Amino acid sequence: MRLLLLTHAFNSLAQRLFVDLRADGHEVSVELDIADAVTEEAVALWQPDVVIAPFLKRRIPESVWSTRLCLVVHPGPPGDRGPSALDWAVLTGKREWGVTVLQATGDYDAGPVWAWRAFAMRELATKSSLYRDEVVEAAVDAVREAIAKWTPGAVCKSAPSPGCWQPPMTQAERAIDWMRDTTAVVLRKLRASDGFPGVADSLFGVTAHLFDAHPASDDDLRRAPAGAPGDVVARRGPALLRRTTNAAVWIGHVRRHRGDGAPTLKLAATRAFAAECAALPELPVPLMRDDETWDELRYREHGPAGARVGVLSFEFHNGAMSTRQCRRLAAALHAVAQRATRVVVLDGGPDFFSNGIHLHEIEADQIDGGSAADASLANIEAIDDVALAILSLTDRLVIAALRGNAGAGGCFLALAADEVWAHRGVVQNPHYKNMGNLYGSEYWTYLLPRRVGEDRARALMRGRLPLGAREAHVLGLVDAVLTDGAHGFDAAVIERALALAADTGSTARVAVKAARREADERIRPLAAYREEELRRMRLNFYGFDPSYHVARHHFVHRKPHAWTPRHLAVHR
Ligand code: COA
Repeated sequence: MRLLLLTHAFNSLAQRLFVDLRADGHEVSVELDIADAVTEEAVALWQPDVVIAPFLKRRIPESVWSTRLCLVVHPGPPGDRGPSALDWAVLTGKREWGVTVLQATGDYDAGPVWAWRAFAMRELATKSSLYRDEVVEAAVDAVREAIAKWTPGAVCKSAPSPGCWQPPMTQAERAIDWMRDTTAVVLRKLRASDGFPGVADSLFGVTAHLFDAHPASDDDLRRAPAGAPGDVVARRGPALLRRTTNAAVWIGHVRRHRGDGAPTLKLAATRAFAAECAALPELPVPLMRDDETWDELRYREHGPAGARVGVLSFEFHNGAMSTRQCRRLAAALHAVAQRATRVVVLDGGPDFFSNGIHLHEIEADQIDGGSAADASLANIEAIDDVALAILSLTDRLVIAALRGNAGAGGCFLALAADEVWAHRGVVQNPHYKNMGNLYGSEYWTYLLPRRVGEDRARALMRGRLPLGAREAHVLGLVDAVLTDGAHGFDAAVIERALALAADTGSTARVAVKAARREADERIRPLAAYREEELRRMRLNFYGFDPSYHVARHHFVHRKPHAWTPRHLAVHR
């Protein structure tokens, strides 16, 4: 079939549909929802059999839905209507939820239902995490079922149902009452608001939207200074510890408001309130610790002595890796190198493996009067050090296990490992050019061609398209697709890593790997790859062409698109 994805942004759901529907053999083009006239033009040019709307903020024009089948993906079960579907589901503690594919009509979410899927709500998951995993999986299945029912001129038999309109969730409904709400209630409100819009609140007397919350463990509570509910009493990495009526929560990210009331960028809480929290005690924790105590980094070991597997997780919010976070991760990798393991698994975070350098922090440096170019260079040097630390683990096997998606530099960090494992739902964007023609670093000029060859490396970089796990496997960017989705992936990774650590053949593999690294180093040192990449990056950061700075500014401020990039809008 010929399909048009009409979407407000080419987000995780739109990308996954793009990848899977193309893999099913459909011709897929994309138009971002910019204006009715642009949508009409896209439909006229592409003449799609069906228009699919994974993520819209406006109605599809009648001139389009009245002339061909338009299917809208709604992240709620049949009968649920309104723009805060998942927010309400999380806030009200629904056990089961769903995704519906409806025919677009004049009314929001009220057309005939073509397909739908139910899913169990994952306990303690944030709205964004549910969206990126369960909603995406259910939506792909339901869209496939819906388009399989299509025949030219097909009309859905099921009658439109007015359903139940749930209004947009207001900040009053999300608001935390620190004097009354327990930790569980505080966390539910924050999880229901995660990603966007956050919970409007205040910190140190300044208005701020709060995001990225984690419960404090018993150990945290014992070590933290006492305080009344609402008091901020300690800090750890990006987060501030805030007392509740019965315990405390870590608040990882905030959007602090300026003096004129306008919200600024979403940043680590300890950065946005750096001056205010400077005197608070830091509550550091070791890499190896109990499961309840939260931090961005965690290391665990599995298996018997002589065949041990170390697992290093880096749960950086949104997969963005600031200079601070890269330095911490590089230090953790050096510590992990001292442990007696045969296999090291790097499994990133549950929602993202990594999305490369931290564009918000770089932009914030510029807003604070610093240089975005200097901040970009410092961040890229720091992430390169992480890649180098992975490449330097030549005395054992290293696995990158992609629990979530990866983008730009994050994909190439994974390639620094000996093997990359993923599940079928993982989408990667192994290219840089979408960020204002960035050249890229992380030793990609060494890592990518040695895996896929020069021609494919060039094609991937130029293509700028998302890749599904299966396609990435065929191309050689992924070595194994272990499970159908995120469910069961962690266990499958450990099982396979333990088998690898116990395999007597692994010793020979490590020897071959070390010899190859030495031989490669003699042909061209890693330092030379890095220097050449950074020479090109300096042109991006400091040169005459400001494209990267403009693209970053638009990305971090979520500026609406003015046009659809031509590599997506095939019809243009
Ligand atoms: N730095 C800072 N924040 C980042 C980020 C980065 N490198 N990559 C993603 N994010 C944030 C987004 O701002 C967004 O924040 P939110 O909490 O306000 O929603 C969140 O992560 C999710 O990103 P989004 O773009 O909505 O996710 P997606 O699944 O639709 O798209 C990517 C994934 C990777 C394609 C897209 O995020 C992207 O292009 N990121 C930038 C990659 C990059 O160029 N890195 C720098 C070069 S190494």
